[in-house]
Amino acid sequence: MKILVLNGSPHRDGATADMVAAFTRGAEEAGHSVVRFDVAFMNIRGCMACDSCRNIEKGVCVQQDDMQEIYPEILSSDMIVFASPIYYFTLSAQLQAVIHRTYSVDIPANVKKVALIMSSGSKYVYGAAITEYFQSIVEYWGVENAGIFTANGKQNKSEEKRRELYEFGKSLR
Ligand SMILES: Cc1cc2nc3c(=O)[nH]c(=O)nc-3n(C[C@H](O)[C@H](O)[C@H](O)COP(=O)(O)O)c2cc1C
Repeated sequence: MKILVLNGSPHRDGATADMVAAFTRGAEEAGHSVVRFDVAFMNIRGCMACDSCRNIEKGVCVQQDDMQEIYPEILSSDMIVFASPIYYFTLSAQLQAVIHRTYSVDIPANVKKVALIMSSGSKYVYGAAITEYFQSIVEYWGVENAGIFTANGKQNKSEEKRRELYEFGKSLR
């Protein structure tokens, strides 16, 4: 499988990146190819709602920013993994901007499954992010939810979480 990881954390060596690294190790050992974008370090603006992608040139976003690097990967991937720290009870603004910009793609034809990785300070803060994930992605795209993984407090950067994410990556078929 070709797997695209969209990491919305601005911490290069943070807790989200730690889970993504463990997942990637497992997935690559299982023979999958993994392409990762650390979207917080990219120049990706919010959707302007110009509707050019719907009404003028279908499927093409007019905004010439770094999202143009990600579009071909969204279209050619079998699986997308969304990874983010929790900011104010939801996904980071940087990852949300990427999700909003999939408006031009609408439903990516090749994607069959998705997963969600989240890191937070506290427990019980994932509700809004999970709702967004299901409503904007799993249900709207009509794809399989392959799993939701969370780490909070002391679980961040723990061996227990690294193993869980590694095993998840390794188990993918
Ligand atoms: C702007 C901001 C908002 C945050 N909001 C929350 C929150 O609502 N709930 C929570 O549990 N943690 C919150 N946190 C803590 C982060 O989710 C936590 O530190 C996370 O492990 C960071 O992941 P990272 O190292 O991958 O960036 C917030 C952190 C920041 C910087």
